[in-house]
Amino acid sequence: MRRKIVAGNWKMNNDLKETIDLINDLKQNLGNVDVKVLIAPSFPFLKTAVDQVGDHSIEVISQNINDNKSGAFTGEVSIDMLKSIGINTTLIGHSERRAIYNEDDVLLFKKINIALKSNMDIIFCFGEELKDRKSNSHFDVVKSQLDNTVMKLESSSWKNIVLAYEPVWAIGTGETASAEQAQEIHEFVRNYISEKFNSEVADNISILYGGSVKPSNAVEIFDKKDVDGGLIGGAALKAHDFIEIIKANS
Ligand code: PGA
Repeated sequence: MRRKIVAGNWKMNNDLKETIDLINDLKQNLGNVDVKVLIAPSFPFLKTAVDQVGDHSIEVISQNINDNKSGAFTGEVSIDMLKSIGINTTLIGHSERRAIYNEDDVLLFKKINIALKSNMDIIFCFGEELKDRKSNSHFDVVKSQLDNTVMKLESSSWKNIVLAYEPVWAIGTGETASAEQAQEIHEFVRNYISEKFNSEVADNISILYGGSVKPSNAVEIFDKKDVDGGLIGGAALKAHDFIEIIKANS
């Protein structure tokens, strides 16, 4: 079922103490919310984060996975390792992975497949760059990113997927897509899923928006009918701001 979700992508921020403090702050101050809350700390602190969250409903997720099961892949982390410490969801295809680490659609599709095979849920990120929007090709770029990856899946796999539209020009830049710009793409994607699969798959998929979401713009963005929540970077590092954003979606 389509869910309201707010996920915090901590990226390469927070040491051990900061990880523990932020989780404690969230647990103490979140209260009862009708929103699925996820946090993605760095690899070294995932086990600590899982323990620290304890039986609270916050879910700890991974920022990335390797596309192989195990073996000689120095510096990489496998799904089985993550599952063994209680991580059952991962981001795939974040724009920083695509841009800085050259992760292309072929690799991302491999990651999607190994995750699904291992019963790991996915938040799949996609979104155009500034040049694409300027040349008015943002719909084509988004369509192609989806065609090369999730659109190739069986409809039965979609229950394990959440999508996150993250226009690259709005990530960490302070520049946010307007609520209308977000809605326009979300609606386009939902209609496209309905066309390719069926309306049930399209209705049930949660589509998050990411890119400079803050307490001051969250309500307007989350109010749009095809925006089911957010993937939050910078503002997820402060408990107060993150909680304000979560509440904006409830
Ligand atoms: P931002 O990052 O909120 O800092 O723009 C969003 C993201 O990269 O997921």
